[in-house]
Amino acid sequence: MRNFEYCTPTRLIFGKGVVEKLPSVLAPIGKKVLFTYGGGSIKKNGLYEKVIKLLDGFEVFELSGIEPNPKYSTSVLDGVRICKENDIDVILAVGGGSVVDCSKAIAAGAKYDGEPWDLITHKVPTEAALPVVDIITMAATGSEYDPGGVISRPETNDKVGYIDKHLYPVASFVDPTYTFSVPKLQMAAGVADAMNHVMEQYFNSDPHDFADGMMEASLKSLIKNVKIALENPEDYNARAEIFLNCTLDCNNILSIGEAPSGWPMHGMEHALSAYYDITHGIGLAILAPRWMKHILSEKTAPRIAKYGINVFGVDKNLSVTDAAEKAIEETFSFFESIGIPMYLKDVGIDETRLAEMAHHVAENEGLDNPYVYVPLTENDILEIFKASL
Ligand code: NZQ
Ligand code: ZN
Repeated sequence: MRNFEYCTPTRLIFGKGVVEKLPSVLAPIGKKVLFTYGGGSIKKNGLYEKVIKLLDGFEVFELSGIEPNPKYSTSVLDGVRICKENDIDVILAVGGGSVVDCSKAIAAGAKYDGEPWDLITHKVPTEAALPVVDIITMAATGSEYDPGGVISRPETNDKVGYIDKHLYPVASFVDPTYTFSVPKLQMAAGVADAMNHVMEQYFNSDPHDFADGMMEASLKSLIKNVKIALENPEDYNARAEIFLNCTLDCNNILSIGEAPSGWPMHGMEHALSAYYDITHGIGLAILAPRWMKHILSEKTAPRIAKYGINVFGVDKNLSVTDAAEKAIEETFSFFESIGIPMYLKDVGIDETRLAEMAHHVAENEGLDNPYVYVPLTENDILEIFKASL
């Protein structure tokens, strides 16, 4: 097991009705609040009205219309401007991962005099950020409990993971009832995202039993509970299990003491979302089985087989290679069974720009680094994209 330091400074407030504590959590942080949200889901499900009532007594500014795959030139820069012009004390992000991610980038940009893109791309170090509190309404990214945000800049086909310790939310309210209104395909995509977060960590070169057990349990819980929630969207326990998994899955606690993996599926998916603005979890679900197939070798087969046996109940009497192949088939079939379109063509991506995207990934994502579980060249990436068509 490797040496590690672990610290998540976020106050996690989980459960039905917890949002009532919002005023007492915000009050010690500040009076001037920038309330950020997306395209209107919180107005439809009543959360907007609720938050406005809870913010009685605070000075409230609003930034609405944050897009899925949040955009730098509109949402981030608008938010930074509002914060600077009004001397905002705290950002309250209410929505899915896109709203929380965008708010994190705004929080850092508000404390920086130069171009915020330089912070997002790690060209200059982040020295400070405004505090972010969030009410997360989508179970998916884990942005509520991690120090990352992913920002898109379609003008340059960039989708960049911005990770810095200043980006941990100060507090996150996680109420599973807010996810009752998430459309089924969006929920399935969120679960696929969380499963991929676990798989990215599971496939590393220095595993240990404790971490493996946590990750296998997380995958099994997601697989079981997404089926229940698809059947009955208002099943609180299923929604709560899904949400807790999603919250913890991207925070690196599950792979504590293990080797880094390089997160290859995410590296490749960033290009799909950047070039075609597709839903992140869907892109990941399409890539995952093709990536596994591509990296299947004598060296990786035992680990893929272990995943298949412990997560999907693949027959442990099969040969290692057969068990690994079965694990890949099960992964594909599971994503398909929860309604995810499993071919790039289904989401409007054809062969035209595959080579350009593979080049972009190879240039920007560092997937050929030796620490990546199985390093990928530009040609490997292109092959995986082609196999996903
Ligand atoms: O914009 P509104 O109207 O709020 O609607 C959203 C949006 O259309 C809707 N939605 C959210 N909560 C809802 C709801 N609809 C009904 N009821 C609710 N309770 O769902 C749509 C998608 O929302 P979005 O925030 O984009 O989804 P998600 O949470 O999956 O976030 C995706 C973004 O997060 C990034 C992705 O790349 C993508 O840009 N990621 C962030 C990570 C992180 N911070 O650590 C890690 C992930 O790997 C991921 O890359
Ligand atoms: Zn993800």
